[in-house]
Amino acid sequence: MKNLITKTTELAMEVTLKYIKPGDLAVDATCGAGNDTVSLASAVGDGGKVVAFDIQERAVELTGERLRTEDLDNVSLHLESFVNMDKYVEESSAAAVIFNLGYLPGGDHGITTVAETTLVGLAKALKVLKSGGILSVVLYDGHEEGRAEKTAVLEWARALDSKAYHAAFVNFINQANYPPEILWITKK
Ligand SMILES: C[S@@+](CC[C@H](N)C(=O)[O-])C[C@H]1O[C@@H](n2cnc3c(N)ncnc32)[C@H](O)[C@@H]1O
Repeated sequence: MKNLITKTTELAMEVTLKYIKPGDLAVDATCGAGNDTVSLASAVGDGGKVVAFDIQERAVELTGERLRTEDLDNVSLHLESFVNMDKYVEESSAAAVIFNLGYLPGGDHGITTVAETTLVGLAKALKVLKSGGILSVVLYDGHEEGRAEKTAVLEWARALDSKAYHAAFVNFINQANYPPEILWITKK
């Protein structure tokens, strides 16, 4: 059996995929190099759709290349901030919305997610999420902006109405070098 707790992004995706079936709509809020977009697009299949965003031109190019290589044409890709996701995705329509916060590895580390806009994006994510859907957030606190962002995101998540949402936070407590952490929120 595959060891599920060695790679944060893989665990985040494994759990997210449990909430997705063929034909669904899924949102990748931060497509980066396109790894997560490809996983979501494969899961929703030809009859489904993925809407993906990134504010960085290079990320949109990389994701487009990955999708062409994988022969996936069920993704609408936008050079756009996730704060505007509700302009592209209808309310209560998405089975999953994922955020992989921070900066693009190998890219411009100056272009990173920041607490203020991330909180707006997360609120929009809950708006577009359908009942029974999941919001998955991978957080990095190994850099200064990431630490402030994590504090703000967890404070926001703790305050969510427990009658409307379940929130869980996973922290890889014995690993070196600030391993990423995961926040999952499901909508009742
Ligand atoms: C850690 S990377 C994402 C990795 C990606 N999920 C993958 O599978 O390769 C974070 C991405 O967030 C993007 N980003 C930062 N602020 C953003 C915003 N407001 N809206 C959308 N994307 C943003 C960055 O440009 C960067 O590409």
